Amino acid sequence: MNTAIGIAYLIAAVVFIFGLRQLGSPVTARLGNRVAAAGMTLAVVATLVSPAGSGVLPSGIHPHAVNWIIIFLGMALGGTAGVISARRVLMTAMPQMVAIFNGMGGGAAAAVSALELVHLTEAHLRGGSGGQLATIMLGSAIGCVSFAGSMVAFAKLQEIVGGGAIRLPFQQFIVATLVIAIVVLGVLAAAVTSSYAIFALLILAAILLGLLLVIPIGGADMPVVISLMNSLTGLAAALTGFVLSNELLIVSGALVGASGTLLTQLMAKAMNRPLTNVLFGAFGAAPSGGGAALAASGTVREISVDDAATLMIYADQVIVVPGYGLAVAQAQHQVHELGELLEKRDVSVKYAIHPVAGRMPGHMNVLLAEADVAYSQLFDMDQINGEFAHSEVALVVGANDVTNPAARTDRSSPIYGMPILNVDQARNIIVLKRSMRPGFAGIDNPLYLDPKTAMLFGDAKDSLTRLVNSVKAAP
Ligand code: TAP
Repeated sequence: MNTAIGIAYLIAAVVFIFGLRQLGSPVTARLGNRVAAAGMTLAVVATLVSPAGSGVLPSGIHPHAVNWIIIFLGMALGGTAGVISARRVLMTAMPQMVAIFNGMGGGAAAAVSALELVHLTEAHLRGGSGGQLATIMLGSAIGCVSFAGSMVAFAKLQEIVGGGAIRLPFQQFIVATLVIAIVVLGVLAAAVTSSYAIFALLILAAILLGLLLVIPIGGADMPVVISLMNSLTGLAAALTGFVLSNELLIVSGALVGASGTLLTQLMAKAMNRPLTNVLFGAFGAAPSGGGAALAASGTVREISVDDAATLMIYADQVIVVPGYGLAVAQAQHQVHELGELLEKRDVSVKYAIHPVAGRMPGHMNVLLAEADVAYSQLFDMDQINGEFAHSEVALVVGANDVTNPAARTDRSSPIYGMPILNVDQARNIIVLKRSMRPGFAGIDNPLYLDPKTAMLFGDAKDSLTRLVNSVKAAP
């Protein structure tokens, strides 16, 4: 039996790695997701029929009856909630969903670790196994940090609390004190055998740490934080795997932890922000009065639909710059249709993808793939940035922060240093958005006052539909 379970775990681990690899490209991502889900199904079945699944604890202490009704009830409830929320969630609300699911993972890892402490205590083994106790303390603490941090991230993104950075006095000092307190409480909880009170304090301190780590973060730093919480959940799950002596949980937790860490690094690099800066240098909290001050400080030039269409029809190359507004307007089909019409008129159409455009990694790729835009037309920031200077038109569709030249020139700007798309280097810039309001980071965009920029105000879907009709009607 154990050999069969071991083989099933091995197959599941290989399948997870294969699935993860497939997620690296939009072409294979759907397959990767299905393959990984199949691996998870195998892993769950193998765990349920394994000796641990049927009631023998990893330490072999005291086999106890498994309550299959509770297990299947839990699976049915969790599965139903997962399916319903995954089907209903809007693309624009995906980051919140990732945050809440991730938090659940961290909380579950902490709960399992805590339960194992109870089992060890009941079996009078507490204090006898230092490594196991240390793993339990660490797993519980990291799981709670991830749980609490992810819940704050969810509340911010869902706008239950303000999405900006909330600065706290002495934040760094309090965080450092909490980290030290968690280490001390962990050692004490492992050493003192008679009470759970110290362990409960450890859990409280970890939850407080998670809250305090994420509350001061806001604006454009949120995606980095979610990814960091993701890697912490992976780490907590891997530690739980050690506690339960479950090799597959160790492998899958390590995969989540490692990929989350890599993603965190990639996103921090894309925004040119060291992780310490994200965690301890509040950013993105500066709402700028709805863009009124920006509009008053210079001349905003508007363009008619027909003039914008004519400009594009006679261009050699149009670079489309999609952003969060494209997702809000659900205008991916219209932007594709416009692109196809222009190509039929021998205009080269390319799409410039900024790594943090939209609200989740790969957001623009997913949207454009949904509308069947060819992958060969999508270009990463590094590939396309040199081409703006040779392009007749940059068509900005609901993108803002990722085009803000202040990131390049204005040392006082909170996004100074973040690499941006060189939209301002195009010969003409057409911006589709509804108003002069700022984007996610809450800061004004001087691009809109550039003499080369023309604003086409309105919902992106509506504006694109009118552009499509105008291009169709043009001689
Ligand atoms: P944003 O800077 O957020 O700007 C989006 C713009 O779209 C807004 O200025 C808004 O202006 C416009 N808009 C909204 N609805 C629209 C509609 N229906 N039609 C037309 N325009 C509409 O977007 P971005 O340039 O994609 O930058 C992304 C930002 O989000 C970055 O700051 C990034 O760090 C952050 N972020 C990214 C992620 C990831 S991982 N991608 C996750 C969370 C946060 P109006 O209101 O005037 O229309």
